[in-house]
Amino acid sequence: MQRTISVASPTNHEATAIATEPLSETLVLPARSTLFHVIDPRVFERPLLDELCDLATRVRMLAKSDEGARALRDVLPTRRAMLYFTQPSTRTFLSFNNACHILGMRTSEIRDPSTSSEVKGESFEDSIRTFSSYVDVIVMRTKESGRAAQAARLMNGIPRPVPVINAGSGSDQHPTQALLDIYTLARSFDGQGSIDGKVIGMMGDLKRGRTVRSLCYLMKNYTGVRLVFIAPEQYAMQADVKAYLDQHGIRYSETTNLDGVLPTLDAIYVTRMQTEWDTAGESSAVDLGRFSIGERELARLKRDAIIMHPLPRGAEIGPVVDQDPRAMYWRQERNGMWMRVAVLIKIFGAEGRIPATV
Ligand code: CP
Repeated sequence: MQRTISVASPTNHEATAIATEPLSETLVLPARSTLFHVIDPRVFERPLLDELCDLATRVRMLAKSDEGARALRDVLPTRRAMLYFTQPSTRTFLSFNNACHILGMRTSEIRDPSTSSEVKGESFEDSIRTFSSYVDVIVMRTKESGRAAQAARLMNGIPRPVPVINAGSGSDQHPTQALLDIYTLARSFDGQGSIDGKVIGMMGDLKRGRTVRSLCYLMKNYTGVRLVFIAPEQYAMQADVKAYLDQHGIRYSETTNLDGVLPTLDAIYVTRMQTEWDTAGESSAVDLGRFSIGERELARLKRDAIIMHPLPRGAEIGPVVDQDPRAMYWRQERNGMWMRVAVLIKIFGAEGRIPATV
């Protein structure tokens, strides 16, 4: 006999009935919150984004006091996370690791597949299923696109599925980066009527940059936003993202001329050349000076505009920019930890365990 179970699907954060393999035992699934796998930014709607931002702010404020930090450690003390990062990462790994610890969770990690049984020939599927035997959530970054989605599909078909969080999948998507970027934009524009109606520039290697691709998807949630893509022609934003923007009525324009658009921007999201995807050092041919922020560009940028960057950076933003009050990228990376705390709380339905005050 075939049974169905209710699990959140990667394409819809509401519960969806899916078929499973025939089961011989009674299946008891934990009550689902409205967020399970985090794979594809397109599933995020404005109420959930607003809720996550509010949650991130609540935990950020609580953590300012020792008492609040201790209260947060009691939120998920029985939960365990697997951090499976086989592609290099500094801030996504560290912010997830610390987000777990803030909530009292324990973490296990594999960062180098040569230390796992994959070297003995264990399949990707068996590795993921093995992680799920020991932990309550799998956070994963891979060089290949589609691996996190594959893991989530695998989880949807086993008796004890655990949520999978995509922490960066190839050059395709980086959904939790997009969430922290939204949080940074929302915080920065708090006194300027929110993200709605803002002109947001995205500059650099837009073709191979997963952060900008994911952030574009979330823009469908904000009214009147206009995007300006500033990129060398050979690294322009890809057609699939532009088709999505067209489909959702999000206005965008494309240029190679930063000077021409700089004074119109409310935010500029700078990215580096994604040299790790080069086959023969081809991106070194780009004149990066035309796609960089320095003192001259600072002078032309609106006084209340903000400068973002997912980091790590290259020469496209010099250290001189760090002193400018419009530089938000260090705050942005710290926001990542609070947003990832919020995501974990939401996945485990633990919002009710956050004290209002301490
Ligand atoms: N922004 C980002 O994903 O940084 P890491 O590669 O250091 O995790």
